[in-house]
Amino acid sequence: MAKVLVTGGLGYIGSHTVVELLAQNHEVIIVDNLSNSEYCILSKISEITHTTPAFEQIDICDTDALRACFKAHGPIHAVIHFAAYKAVGESVSNSLLYYKNNVLGLLSVLECMREFSVCNIVFSSSCTVYGQPTQLPVTEQAPIQKALSPYGNTKQICEEIICDAIHSYNDICAVILRYFNPIGAHPSACIGELPKGVPNNLVPFITQTAAGVRKQLQVFGNDYNTPDGSAIRDYIYVVDLAKAHVKALDKLCAQTTHSGYELFNLGTGTGISVLEMVHTFERVTGVSVPYTIASRREGDIEQVWADTTRANRELDWFANTSLEDILLSAWNWEKKIRNL
Ligand code: NAD
Ligand code: WQD
Repeated sequence: MAKVLVTGGLGYIGSHTVVELLAQNHEVIIVDNLSNSEYCILSKISEITHTTPAFEQIDICDTDALRACFKAHGPIHAVIHFAAYKAVGESVSNSLLYYKNNVLGLLSVLECMREFSVCNIVFSSSCTVYGQPTQLPVTEQAPIQKALSPYGNTKQICEEIICDAIHSYNDICAVILRYFNPIGAHPSACIGELPKGVPNNLVPFITQTAAGVRKQLQVFGNDYNTPDGSAIRDYIYVVDLAKAHVKALDKLCAQTTHSGYELFNLGTGTGISVLEMVHTFERVTGVSVPYTIASRREGDIEQVWADTTRANRELDWFANTSLEDILLSAWNWEKKIRNL
């Protein structure tokens, strides 16, 4: 069993991953500064797993504090690095904040890893690095395109930093995971996505509209070159995504090489349109989602979905939760947090 330091472990994907790590008897140290999460998530993790992981409220950019954490909890076998800011629009209006947090955060993590001889890292990247691919489904070999936002650029830069560090020092093994669109909540409805203010992402907007918190959903564009005119994405269940991190960790810990990196797409392999999402949600929950058609959202691509062959083969990982069950989990979570 590995001792794993999880940065951003109280966030949306981090908390679900911590649950899966604990379920596989890994030891977890969560590092989070609570900039986009709540302390109470720790007790929710305990409720689900009957285990309370170690928690350090630290800003990962504070390298001295992070160093002290590595020292106190050593020896650490691996880092799963989620901590970053992720709001695309905010990254456009406050780009330096994003470069500082996301890039300096990674540098600080890598510095501590090298200092304490921790060689394994799993890094959260994004399908945003592909932009609008020319071939679908998109494979890991597809060219990286110029980022459409500073947020997207931080992911490209961070991937490059990891690869350059491997090249320079030969003492880091990395798995870079490119997530498609993570959605849904834990089946217990104890943890889920907690967007602050008006959600930017589709599924929280759908569930909040269904709950009556928002009047109506705006469907951004119905004039795309897709079967129903709305944009297509690959929506991956957060619990399936979390399980992929455990597989990636197991692979890293089992291998005998001392340096290198591997890249994996994490999606379902199926593209779903915005309107299909709305109608599936309505069908499985029996709750209607009022919507209007609005103009396209700036910076949106038309369609993307993943080729997951590599993750299926190399990680023995499959996303097998149905869209119906995923949307039900998102709805159960929304009802729980709204006391409905
Ligand atoms: P999240 O905001 O829910 O979780 C991130 C966590 O990191 C939060 O708990 C936040 O408090 C913490 N954090 C941020 N900066 C920190 C810092 N400097 N020091 C310590 N803690 C810090 O986000 P998420 O959706 O769970 O995303 C996790 C990772 O996955 C991020 O790197 C994100 O860019 C990436 N990602 C997310 C998505 C998505 O749609 N959610 C898609 C692709 C990639
Ligand atoms: C999905 C679809 C919208 C809201 C973003 C980031 C990306 C990644 C995942 C981190 C799009 C449409 C949405 C609404 C709508 N994050 N939509 N009405 O844009 O694919 O990706 O999250 O790495 O980097 O950009 O996800 O959930 O915002 O949108 O019609 O109110 O739903 O236009 O087609 P997106 P999303």
